[in-house]
Amino acid sequence: MSDADSAQSPVLDVERVVCRLSDLDEHGSRAFTIGRGDWPLRGLVVKAGSEVRGYINSCPHAGHPLNLRPHQFLTADGALILCCSHGALFEKLTGFCLAGPCAGRSLRPIPLQLVSGFVLLADSVAADKLADDAAPLP
Ligand code: FES
Repeated sequence: MSDADSAQSPVLDVERVVCRLSDLDEHGSRAFTIGRGDWPLRGLVVKAGSEVRGYINSCPHAGHPLNLRPHQFLTADGALILCCSHGALFEKLTGFCLAGPCAGRSLRPIPLQLVSGFVLLADSVAADKLADDAAPLP
């Protein structure tokens, strides 16, 4: 998805807003929560060049949130997503784990769209369903 896609979706659905595109300028990544209750959809967005990607904020290794500090998901050089629990490293563009205890697995993607400078969940995404799928088993 690129910012050019925004011209095709002029309607802004505030219930699906993840963040402003400019919110990614400081850290290159941002956490977000959409929904209510015990298990809302908790995700992260990352900027990868001119692209933006979204993932469920749950590491495929042990299911921990990837970040310890608010909105900080990247390695010091900003090149990769880092899981702070045990050091797994993921590609920003694909979510694929390059190294660490879950090498070869991937973060779960969240389809996004850009509309008028905002990052939104894609129209195809059922936020409640994604959140339920990401919730830990009882
Ligand atoms: S929980 Fe992410 S590397 Fe262990």
